[in-house]
Amino acid sequence: MFVNKPPMGFNTWNTFAENISDEMIRETADAMVEKGLLAAGYNYLVIDDCWSKRQRDPETDKIVPDEKKFPNGMKAVSDYVHSKGLKFGMYSCAGVRTCADYPGSFAHEYLDAATFAEYGCDFLKYDYCYKPKDADGALLYRKISMALRSCGRDILLSACNWGCDDVHKWIRSTGAGMYRSTGDISDSFVSFRDIFVSQLDNFVYSAPGCFNDIDMLTVGMRNRGNVAASGCTDEEYRTEFALWCMFSAPLMLGCDVRNIDDVTLKLVTNPRLIAVNQDEEGRPPFVAVYGHDNLANVYVKVLSNNRLAILFANLTDGDREMWLPLDSIGIPVNVGKGLRLTDVYTGEDAGAHKEYLMYHVPAHDTRMFTAEIADV
Ligand code: GLA
Repeated sequence: MFVNKPPMGFNTWNTFAENISDEMIRETADAMVEKGLLAAGYNYLVIDDCWSKRQRDPETDKIVPDEKKFPNGMKAVSDYVHSKGLKFGMYSCAGVRTCADYPGSFAHEYLDAATFAEYGCDFLKYDYCYKPKDADGALLYRKISMALRSCGRDILLSACNWGCDDVHKWIRSTGAGMYRSTGDISDSFVSFRDIFVSQLDNFVYSAPGCFNDIDMLTVGMRNRGNVAASGCTDEEYRTEFALWCMFSAPLMLGCDVRNIDDVTLKLVTNPRLIAVNQDEEGRPPFVAVYGHDNLANVYVKVLSNNRLAILFANLTDGDREMWLPLDSIGIPVNVGKGLRLTDVYTGEDAGAHKEYLMYHVPAHDTRMFTAEIADV
């Protein structure tokens, strides 16, 4: 499947881990529709690890769903998800076992792809645990990609090898639509900050066709669930979401969307932020100003229709004055041009500016604008 925009949706892992069930998935599907998440673009509902029995069926060798969690089987769940207008995602692993110790797809790629097609899957997250030592990782991703391409259904391959083996250099060639580039996120400022900064050199390895996935969002988790750590403030969650949007990262929600709070809902459905993430040109941002070991950078992303997005990201522990000379983005002082800004968070007109932009940005917070180049 060719994905021309970063995939958006919900994944069970961050909050639920093994606490997944038919009922919980149906309730999540209902919530995604009722709360306007589907309308905002979140159209994949993905069941992560822990959905199957611990062993394959001894006769058919197939992976089988855990009937305590999914008493009606996976096709019934998938049918329900589809009936809501959502797409249905599942999970397996390139190794012999999944990370949570359920059967992996190693040496069963074609059988499992056929099973996922039977279930009506549209998306497969494919992990990297328990890979036999001498197995070539790139070949394993090629194998599942070919298996999916011949299973009779259009299934997006979401690779998840955590950035091992220089994955950014070869994953696009396998046919994957997105690829995890880092270790697992947890619900804290330091976790998402370090994940984001680790990919500064790999911004360019993300484009329509195959997007760099810096993990499921923790936005709105409020320190509840499987990857709970210290939790984040509202400003920190907004920073996380802004970074993911600027980077064109897949936007997979990890909070319990059945109980999503108003602040989080407003943030993750902000149409201006989503438009930056989903911009059709799919360009990476560039760093216009480097500051404080990459913790106080200003990012600029070229958008369609001659617009720009600008993010002042203060990832340091102190408040800062952040400065962007327009010269540094390619608009010299003497050409009579400047920027007309819109505040992305509020939608308010933020004025026309020439020569430079300067903002006070509190610790762990951001200012974000879209801009048009204008005569000033
Ligand atoms: C790995 C992945 C996570 C999640 C778990 C499931 O750690 O990186 O995103 O899928 O496995 O066990």
